[in-house]
Order: sequence, then structure tokens, then C-alpha cells
Amino acid sequence: MNKTKTVRTIKSLRAQMNDWRLSEQKTALVPTMGSLHDGHLSLVKLAKKKADRVVVSIFVNPTQFAPNEDFDTYPREEKRDRDKLQNLETDLIFAPSRKQMYAEDFSTRVTVDEISTGLCGASRPHFFGGVATVVCKLLLQALPTMAIFGEKDYQQLLVIKRMVRDLDIPVSIIGGPIIRESDGLAMSSRNKYLTSKERLTAPLLHATLTQIANSVQAGKPLAAQIRSAKSRLKKQGFDVDYLEARNTDNLRPEKQYIPGKTRLFAAAYLGRTRLIDNLLVK
Ligand code: PAF
Repeated sequence: MNKTKTVRTIKSLRAQMNDWRLSEQKTALVPTMGSLHDGHLSLVKLAKKKADRVVVSIFVNPTQFAPNEDFDTYPREEKRDRDKLQNLETDLIFAPSRKQMYAEDFSTRVTVDEISTGLCGASRPHFFGGVATVVCKLLLQALPTMAIFGEKDYQQLLVIKRMVRDLDIPVSIIGGPIIRESDGLAMSSRNKYLTSKERLTAPLLHATLTQIANSVQAGKPLAAQIRSAKSRLKKQGFDVDYLEARNTDNLRPEKQYIPGKTRLFAAAYLGRTRLIDNLLVK
């Protein structure tokens, strides 16, 4: 098994990507902030199916955290991450420093209107600008054939798709399905923050989305189901940020259930941990 190489400069990333491009190999980039769990690893496995060469970037991006958020405490486990990626025979890891990604007088920000507003964009107004900026940079640095993002951050996936389309960035953007723990909790690096008591409650977020989906599929009105689900979540100890039904393609609010088009979105705090989840109602 070849050792997975780690590069830390844009120059060495580009040199390797250029070699692969010249030999007409398909490349896939999986951008991450590290602290890799099985959700990330499923994206790497998907990338391996679709491309000849797989690159994973590991960079905890400061521009997507507000000053009051968890940038300083966000889990950083690069050695463990590298071992996991080695086990999957990942071809390359790009792990740049902050200085490599952002000059001291860095002054550009990519803003994607409309799709970035509402849901996570309402409670974390800085977030999608930071994500779009760093992903735009990573795509231009690597110029892969494709880049793969998890559907747990579904709004993020659509923001990136819109940005790539609007800016004519020649990279295909692919979504990978949400990977769940056996009790339904969507995998996330932030699940590590949950206390053991909160961890027992956390799967109820997904269970609630499933209950709403089942009820509306059985003909019950969407708005009433969402209202009662919110109050159930509150009673169970969640501080609900949002619980909404949106169109799966453009995130416009949906008042009535349309099979295969309505997606349920939720964000809620359990203690200090913010959980997000979503579910397409088929
Ligand atoms: O989803 C994430 O881990 C991050 O938002 C991303 C896409 C790697 C950008 O920093």
C-alpha cells in the first residue's frame, strides 16, 4: 500500500494535480475540517468510486466561524485523520496552514445571495460567506474534476453548487448521503461535544423529522405537524433554532407537501451543541 502523502502548500498541491491532469486521470476533492468520522469516510469512498485519484483537504476554516463560536475548541486530530485516510488508500492530503490560505491582508469574500439566507444563514449570518470563500479557493487551488460534500449540510451543498454555476468554476459538485449512527443521529464532528445524557436525547431530532414525514405522507397537514413537532422537541430539551419545510432544489419555503420535492430542515441546540439534520419527504 502506498503511503498517503500530505502536502501543505498550494504550490505542491497544484504540481500533483497538474501531473494527474496531464495523464488524464479523473480527480476528486473532498474538502473537510478534519476530525474525520464515518460520514467523511463515506465521502472518500464515494470519491474513490468516481475518480482515479482522491484528495482530501483538512483545514479548520476561520472565516466560517463567528467570534462567539467554537473555532478555538473545534476538534483537531490530524494524526488520527491521516491514519484513517491512509487506511482508505487516499492519494493525497492537503493540510495547509492558516497563513497559506489567508494572507494577513486577505480582503475578498464570496457571497452567494438568496440560497444562503434563511435556515442556517439566518442564525449564522457569517457562515456561508466563509464557506463559499474557502471552497472557492480550494476548488481554484486544486482544480479537481469533481468535489464531494455531505448532504447533512444540505444548504451548504446548494450554496456551493450555486457558486460554482454562477462563477463558471469547471468542477462538478456531488452530494453524498447522510451517514447516521445506529440510533439515527446524523454523524457530525460536533457530536463529540454532547454529554452522555444529551447523546441519548440527540437521536430524537431525526426521529421527529421522520414522524413529520410519515404524517404528511399519510395526508396530515404540513404546517400543523411542524408546529406540534417543535413543541415536542422543546419538551424533550431541545432549544429549536428552526424546523422548516423547504423545496429541495431551491430552498424556497413550502406550505404544502410535494412528494420528492419537500425537504424538512432542523437545527436545534442540546446544551451548547448545535445539531442540524434534514430529510427528503418522498
Ligand atoms: O463542511 C465542512 O466541513 C466545511 O464547511 C467545509 C466545506 C470543509 C468548508 O470549510
